[in-house]
Amino acid sequence: MKLDTKLVTLGRAPVRAQGPVNVPVHRASTILSDHLDGYLHRFDGDNRYANVTYGATGTQNARALAEAVAAIEGGHRTVVTGSGLSAVTMAVSAVVGAGDHVLVPDSVYGPTRRFCAVVLDRFGVETSFYDPAAGADIAALMRENTRLVYTEAPGSLTFEMQDVPTIAQAARERGALVAMDNTWATPICFRPLEHGVDISIQAGTKYLAGHSDLVIGMVTTATDALFRTIADQAHAFGDTASPDDCFLALRGLRSLSVRLERQSASALKVARWLESRPVVKRVLYPALASDPGHALWKRDFAGASSLFGLALHATDEAAIARMVDGLELFRIGSSWGGYESLVAYNRMPIPRDVVPWTETPGLLRIHIGLEDPDDLIADLEAGLARLDA
Ligand SMILES: Cc1ncc(COP(=O)(O)O)c(C=O)c1O
Repeated sequence: MKLDTKLVTLGRAPVRAQGPVNVPVHRASTILSDHLDGYLHRFDGDNRYANVTYGATGTQNARALAEAVAAIEGGHRTVVTGSGLSAVTMAVSAVVGAGDHVLVPDSVYGPTRRFCAVVLDRFGVETSFYDPAAGADIAALMRENTRLVYTEAPGSLTFEMQDVPTIAQAARERGALVAMDNTWATPICFRPLEHGVDISIQAGTKYLAGHSDLVIGMVTTATDALFRTIADQAHAFGDTASPDDCFLALRGLRSLSVRLERQSASALKVARWLESRPVVKRVLYPALASDPGHALWKRDFAGASSLFGLALHATDEAAIARMVDGLELFRIGSSWGGYESLVAYNRMPIPRDVVPWTETPGLLRIHIGLEDPDDLIADLEAGLARLDA
């Protein structure tokens, strides 16, 4: 079955007549058993993972969403979590323990960095940050106790690409697991498990849900053992996603590839236009031929999403505020992946251990939505003109 057909057919209600197309919202804490024996054995063996046993471990809506995401990722099974960040923290904390060492790219999503450096540290797990440009040389950074090599491509805010297959192979040869935060590409543009990654993490909050109205996460694993380990961790921590949010995320998934196709085409058009403006220093977007990560992106990814960075020659924050505040179509906000265009600004440098950002004192981040790209360009053109006002 082709990907677009999977997006439309998987995780649907098994009804052909006199019933809804979508799995209805099953709101529940209590899940009833029809006899005592069933109740007593509800968590035995596979029952815990196969059956709906308690609201906090997911009702039919989480199961339907997980089934669809696992198939689209080409994975074994999916754990649905309460947010993208808890997908990261559940996955990572499930596979490491005191005395282990973790390698994390310097360009990682900020809260993931904090979780590893602060929380894991308290539990006796050591984190080293590595240059996201590391390929096979990641091997030299691995220690006897390196249990996990974490990846995220492109990097948060600074958009460095990573050679994920090479890193995964080097990690595997030394007995370490590989996890990837694949939120930017989504499984439409890159499927980590097909490139040697063991654990694929997705902030479904972004493109997958796609409408800026919920937070949810997904962890898809290559093996059953990893699925159980991470599902057990999420249950132990009480991490859960609401049935309503699972329902909405699955609804978002239906249109994921068409939204991405349009948003990506518009993003490329806007990014190319921005690149041609003299006030623009650099557009950080692996889909652009000028991007340092373009060759890797082209080799491994089937497409790009619509989030990119924008470095301006202007350094005066008041001028940048004039540009941003006057935008009509781009709203100011920090999440992304919805149907609407957004702009955010980050003061640089952000915390880095290995490759500090030195290019500009601040960096804009642009998310392109489903609006007409010509209207977006006109809005940005007026904005850039305000830099000199
Ligand atoms: C790359 C990446 N991973 C994970 C997350 C966390 O997702 P959530 O906001 O659902 O916790 C984000 C959120 O911005 C993100 O950008």
